Amino acid sequence: METTYKLLDGKKISGEIKQEIAAVVNELLEKGGRRPHLAGVLVGHDGGSETYMASKVKACEEVGFTSSLIRYEDDVTEEELLACVHRLNQDPTVDGFIVQLPLPKHIDEQKIIEAVDPRKDVDGFHPVNVGHLAIGAPGLRPCTPAGCIRMLDYAGIPIEGARAVIIGRSNIVGKPMAMLLLERHATVTVCHSRTKNLAEVAREADILVAAVGRPHFVTADMVKEGATVIDVGINRIAPKTLVGDVDFDAVSEVAGAITPVPGGVGLLTVAMLMENVVQAAKMQRG
Ligand code: GUN
Repeated sequence: METTYKLLDGKKISGEIKQEIAAVVNELLEKGGRRPHLAGVLVGHDGGSETYMASKVKACEEVGFTSSLIRYEDDVTEEELLACVHRLNQDPTVDGFIVQLPLPKHIDEQKIIEAVDPRKDVDGFHPVNVGHLAIGAPGLRPCTPAGCIRMLDYAGIPIEGARAVIIGRSNIVGKPMAMLLLERHATVTVCHSRTKNLAEVAREADILVAAVGRPHFVTADMVKEGATVIDVGINRIAPKTLVGDVDFDAVSEVAGAITPVPGGVGLLTVAMLMENVVQAAKMQRG
């Protein structure tokens, strides 16, 4: 059967972005600067977190950054973790760092996030950066939603005036996604578990962003013919099987454009993280 949908290929786009970043690194080095340095803090051995962190370290190598990984066991105390954050804040050789989430239950995640120096907050999770995003001021933007916008722009999908529907209201994706789409003049609706007539609302979307964390949650009846569908979900349904929040096979029959999982938004998230590190490095080095 003829393919009627446009596949938004994260691999191609992220590859191009990483090439651009590698060129910026070379420029920095030629001017006598040092390589941007990203540090990552990983607590425990959760399979998903291990995979994400490994892909971030690999991307650093690809673009020519220095990276360092700091590991703690699951029983690390909040005090130890806060001390680590403070050390990284003070370390002049570190341009930006991330603490991989989720953290064990005995640690107050928000307390850790708020301990990060906003200038080194390349995840864009600190309230200062969230606030800057909310008022449209410059700052470090959360990587996953920024990656979604980049994907739309790359594909030439108009955002201004579009009806955008986001399913999911997390601090990491749903809420910042709404703000970024609003900044680009979309008309934005955020749906969640209490939304009435969710399918009906979703069907109004020109741009539908799925960020619920439930495999195959978005079905074909929830998608308007020709709509762009961005799948942020990464759900492990078997040891080696990752699926998104969207029922790809059925939805790709109605969508005008769609992101695959894997090979979609996840790769853009990593590419946006690399961009944030460059931005953080430039801001701090003047
Ligand atoms: N866990 C899931 N997504 C993310 C992310 O973008 N950054 C961090 N630090 N943890 C995450």
